[in-house]
Amino acid sequence: MAGFGFLALGFLFPRAGSVGGGFFRTGGYLAPAEPVPESSVSRVEERSPEDKERWWKKGLRAISEGKLAVVLLAGGQGTRLGSSDPKGCFSPRNTLPIHWYIMTSPFTDDVTRKFFESRKYFGLEADQVTFFQQGTLPCVSDDGRFIMETPYKVAKAPDGNGGVYAALKSKKLLDDMSSRGVKYVDCYGVDNVLVRVADPTFLGYFIEKGVSSAAKVVRKAYPQENVGVFVQRGRGGPLSVVEYSEMDAAMTTEINQSTGRLRYCWSNVCLHMFSLEFLNQVANSLEKDSVYHLAQKKIPSIHGYTMGLKLEQFIFDAFNYSPSTTLFEVLREEEFAPVKNANGSAYDTPDSAKLMLLRLHSRWVVAAGGFLTHSVPLYMTGVEVSPLSSYAGENLEAICRGRTFHAPSEISF
Ligand SMILES: *[C@@H]1O[C@H](CO)[C@@H](O)[C@H](O)[C@H]1NC(C)=O
Ligand SMILES: *[C@@H]1O[C@H](CO)[C@@H](O)[C@H](O)[C@H]1NC(C)=O
Repeated sequence: MAGFGFLALGFLFPRAGSVGGGFFRTGGYLAPAEPVPESSVSRVEERSPEDKERWWKKGLRAISEGKLAVVLLAGGQGTRLGSSDPKGCFSPRNTLPIHWYIMTSPFTDDVTRKFFESRKYFGLEADQVTFFQQGTLPCVSDDGRFIMETPYKVAKAPDGNGGVYAALKSKKLLDDMSSRGVKYVDCYGVDNVLVRVADPTFLGYFIEKGVSSAAKVVRKAYPQENVGVFVQRGRGGPLSVVEYSEMDAAMTTEINQSTGRLRYCWSNVCLHMFSLEFLNQVANSLEKDSVYHLAQKKIPSIHGYTMGLKLEQFIFDAFNYSPSTTLFEVLREEEFAPVKNANGSAYDTPDSAKLMLLRLHSRWVVAAGGFLTHSVPLYMTGVEVSPLSSYAGENLEAICRGRTFHAPSEISF
């Protein structure tokens, strides 16, 4: 995954847009990056128990009224879903059902549908889930020519997770949401084991703020971490995400002297909330501006594998168009355990994600008055709490108080 660029209307001139931090749009350059102002971030330590309670109730009410839909991004070229064990598939009782829209690609569609069928939709009704495919775009060579996969077929690749906007619109799924009374859309990537799907607290906060988009963020763990961060585009401008590959070294490590912390510290972890109204606008804007990131990849062609460019839109491209965005800090150990690399890699593996889940749930159990025994060291194991028993650690006292659980094991009613 060498060099990313970001350009518009330039796909015949890809080099023009692939300078570090070089952002092009038809309207000209985006304003230079500034740190996100404090007033645009809700930080963990600022939240009172009353805030959390109020947001939780407000969010739950909106969910029970059928105003929230969930979009899961499960496209791309990977086959991760089939080999991992998705968690957090839950549906609160006594409410209107939450409708789930699942974006696949030509590469993941079949395996994803079969996976849901074989797991009986994780307790959801089959008609509560809508699968749809993201689009594909032609791959081009460094000098801007189409790469041919066969003598009569252009090589194509999925259009990136930002293809979700065009796909929702062209498949009339935004209209489908509207006809169901949906007002808010929770959007997340398939590779985060700790995701809190349809988080009522986040939704309540979103509604109270009255914004058109929001993102959960975590603090960057260390300056060189390979994550995109939020910036503000000029004073008072829109919030937007800069990928790590588009940041120079100075920006990556810059410290705010008065706080002693990184100036650019709010990592994007692909946990987004949008108003349906905004989603209706953004697909048009992205299409009009033809915003693409370039990724240099090996592409299968008539001449065997050749280096070429894939064009992708990113889910966070939408923030550039949002009239109002707010960030909501969450704790990494509670909400972000990505699966990006194979077991045995240094980080973000199925094993590391599984361990983060076991540790979090073990803390819930202990906080609820339970005890753990274990035959391997506790830092290597833990217990898993069924999502049908608790969403985020609540309501566990009755099950756990005074009881002893042997790790590893699963705890449910
Ligand atoms: C440093 O952080 C403080 C507090 O968040 C902020 O008010 C100030 O503008 C920041 N300074 C710079 C140079 O970013
Ligand atoms: C990674 O290891 C776990 C066991 O800890 C196993 O369940 C899983 O299938 C492995 N995943 C891959 C992709 O090898």
